[in-house]
Amino acid sequence: MSLAQFLADLDALVERAQTTFNSADSAEALEAARVEFLGAKNGQLKSAQQGLGKVDKADKPTAGKRFNEVKGLVESAFEAAQENLSGAGEAASEAFDVTLPGKPVRIGRLHPITQTIREMKDIMGRLGFTAVEGPEIEDDWHNFEALNIPLSHPARDPLDNFYLGTANSAAAESDSPLLLRSQTSTVQIRVMENTKPPVRIISLGRVYRPDTADATHYPMFLQIEGLLVDKGVTMADLKSVLRLFFVSYFGGGEDMHVRFRPSFFPFTEPSVEVDMNWTDAAGNTGWMEMGGAGMVDPNVLRAVGYDPEEVTGFAFGLGVERICMRQHGITDIRDLYQNDVRFLSQF
Ligand code: PHE
Repeated sequence: MSLAQFLADLDALVERAQTTFNSADSAEALEAARVEFLGAKNGQLKSAQQGLGKVDKADKPTAGKRFNEVKGLVESAFEAAQENLSGAGEAASEAFDVTLPGKPVRIGRLHPITQTIREMKDIMGRLGFTAVEGPEIEDDWHNFEALNIPLSHPARDPLDNFYLGTANSAAAESDSPLLLRSQTSTVQIRVMENTKPPVRIISLGRVYRPDTADATHYPMFLQIEGLLVDKGVTMADLKSVLRLFFVSYFGGGEDMHVRFRPSFFPFTEPSVEVDMNWTDAAGNTGWMEMGGAGMVDPNVLRAVGYDPEEVTGFAFGLGVERICMRQHGITDIRDLYQNDVRFLSQF
């Protein structure tokens, strides 16, 4: 074979090898191309090497040198193709579009009732009232007896309370029935039984009454109970503390009206009901009862071992949901307990 022919064949081989390697678009295609050109047995480079033996002896150094160059070229063409291929794979798996908008993080929020509870504790805390807790399952001493509600009182009727333990409410007549507390005033007794005056506490928690749910009633609701007992406490202290509470909570704007209406509770004397101006779902305006209050009845002070000649006190119990509703313009208490995120996310 002539030198010229041999060199021409080598040039053609390099070109074919480069084209084939470059166009290999998968690891399998590249491997096939490698075998085709660099294969130790029948690779094209191998055949070209065999052609070297047929070149004239005088031309062998030139032909050999060129063969080695070509071998290097084919090998580096293969390596380049191999690098390209794996690099492309990496790039494809790592690629991301930095201009894409981020995924919005869904941030939770506090339930409006929780917000109200915290705000109430905060305000009353600044007025020097410590928050305490009491059990939701009560005995009849704490829910009634010590609160000056005798057995004959209609408030103890089995139809008005969730008595526990029997199928037919007979527990209400047994010696010591248990019930879901109907009011947080129970905590007044529990605190006074264990503390000497002065006392200055609030208690926030659930109470239970078999009421039919409507826009302003629910069989479970929350109350904030307040109790202050000390020497010389008067009704004026009760009114000013409640007024301060309402002004702090609602901001005391011109559209806020609070009314104290004479009323009756067995455990306070005198007693008032506390009303606020209110707008219902239909847009009607009027008064809404927010809770009850009064001067602690001497019988209650005696029941816990206090001397009514020594100390006097006031107590109040307000509906937490109604205060929350009044703040936000919520007109149906049931909305607070449906857990509809569309509703809750507004607050
Ligand atoms: N416990 C009363 C109620 O639930 C409210 C109240 C509390 C009244 C304290 C007077 C004093 O209706």
